[in-house]
Amino acid sequence: MDTLRIRPRRLRASAGIRAMVRETVLDPADFIYPLFIVPGQNVKEEISVMPGTYHLSPDQAVIAAKEAYDLGIPAVLVFGLPEYKDEQGSSAWDSNSPVQQAVSLIKQALPELVVITDVCLCQYTSHGHCGMVENGKVDNDSSLDLLSCTAVSHAFAGADMVAPSDMMDGRVAAIRSALDERGFSHVGIMSYAAKYASAFYGPFRDAVDSAPQFGDRRTYQMDPANAREALREVALDIAEGADIIMVKPALAYLDIIRQVKDNFSLPVACYNVSGEYAMVKAAAANGWIDEKRTVLELLTSMKRAGADMIITYHALDAARWLRECN
Ligand code: PBG
Ligand code: ZN
Repeated sequence: MDTLRIRPRRLRASAGIRAMVRETVLDPADFIYPLFIVPGQNVKEEISVMPGTYHLSPDQAVIAAKEAYDLGIPAVLVFGLPEYKDEQGSSAWDSNSPVQQAVSLIKQALPELVVITDVCLCQYTSHGHCGMVENGKVDNDSSLDLLSCTAVSHAFAGADMVAPSDMMDGRVAAIRSALDERGFSHVGIMSYAAKYASAFYGPFRDAVDSAPQFGDRRTYQMDPANAREALREVALDIAEGADIIMVKPALAYLDIIRQVKDNFSLPVACYNVSGEYAMVKAAAANGWIDEKRTVLELLTSMKRAGADMIITYHALDAARWLRECN
């Protein structure tokens, strides 16, 4: 019998050869680090459902942002917990709210760090929905003005980019016009273009107190069963002026990331969401998996699927691990 001529194992024989043929290499520059801002001063409290993440007052957010920046992470994504909630979510565009304060402090301290803000109403509305509620339903068109106001207030605070996560129709166009009218044509839009109605947001809603008080988000977020619809959502957001398109969540939607990457030419972001993070942290805390290897494998899979950037709560740890490896 002839000897085997083709032996794929040759290219796995040593660390050096493996490095030479590696197709996907993670880098801290791939990550975007989310921050949760609360009112007050000197607050840094661990979020119990997402161990290793914190509620931070604006001053403390600057310290966390610097940590990310020093590790080579180019961007943060800022979320807020407001002082007050009402029917319209007016604390979302209040210039004294935690997000606006944190954004301006971070930009003052770290002008080179890219500051992206999440634009939505659910943390700010008493009913916990991402848009205006009228007659018990989430009303699309009346939500657009409120979202635009919010985006403009973030731009005034110094945000480099806004990231609408509400999934109302037409919000990218509305926000683009509002920014342009106010002299913020340089502020980019990273749209949560294909955002699914997912169980993986559970820990986040706990962390920011944004669970809907009635019903669910299935009339605006996408059905997890649909892939072609994601391409349609992405195409619409691009037509409306999005600069970066996002797929969310990441892990259960790697196929969507790949299809979006193959069908469009804009940069693709994915969001490694709270539930994905919490699963890994829980299993690691129990000694059931090796946290470092698991996290790096998962993040690599997202990049391999086509993500140009990954929003992840693991960003600081992963950046440190990547530095150790090199
Ligand atoms: C809401 C929003 C959600 C996340 C970011 N912005 C979830 C939701 O629809 O309630 C999820 C982030 C995460 O789970 O990590 N606009
Ligand atoms: Zn929302």
